[in-house]
Amino acid sequence: MIPDTGRVSLARIAVLVSGRGSNLGALLAAERAGAFPGSVTQVVSNRPGAGGLAIADDHGIATAVVDHRSYPDRERFDDALAAAIGPGEPDLVVLAGFMRVLGRRFVDRYAGRLVNIHPSLLPSYPGLHTHRRALADGAKLHGCTVHFVTADVDVGPIIGQAALGVRDDDDEDSLAARVLALEHRLLPACVRWFCEGRLVVENGRVRVLDTAGPGEIYSPPLDR
Ligand code: GRF
Repeated sequence: MIPDTGRVSLARIAVLVSGRGSNLGALLAAERAGAFPGSVTQVVSNRPGAGGLAIADDHGIATAVVDHRSYPDRERFDDALAAAIGPGEPDLVVLAGFMRVLGRRFVDRYAGRLVNIHPSLLPSYPGLHTHRRALADGAKLHGCTVHFVTADVDVGPIIGQAALGVRDDDDEDSLAARVLALEHRLLPACVRWFCEGRLVVENGRVRVLDTAGPGEIYSPPLDR
């Protein structure tokens, strides 16, 4: 059950990372530019050496490491993660390249304020190796999705998507790089909609209030 989000005056945002942290960096750049009424107040990683931790340090943001290898099962890892996030209960928890599956208790605790960025146009290509699989299928459109997290992996209500046309000469690396650049634009936009209280969830579908809508995108462009 995902409750509707209400307006939060200055949202406290926790970001969970496992690696490089480029989406975290994009979020922080957007915050600095005043792109959303919120602030990243903490960064938590399940990997001690994650690049995202260094980015947080550079910005003077509190960090914590909850190493999944130190816990005997998912429940205890999830509880430690929640303990690291609390007690300053954030308004929004962003999974930005966080590579652990979270259990139902954790997901329920943050229901309606837990979002993930995934490098495909869901429901196509949930899981790993999304760019490789899209190329193998000859997909013409590919992209990224920000969605609310539910107990089932990569299937929660979709908040926003950004798409690009796959080029004939794309390989996995070039496609990943171009999708990543889209991620860096999509995630701050979705965070803004959340912080502005513009997301309404009805029957598992998200409505973004006060937006003109995306229009239509084709690949290749039809006028050429
Ligand atoms: C991104 O592609 C994200 O969609 C996926 O993992 C990657 C993380 O990249 N879940 P970064 O750590 O934000 O640079």
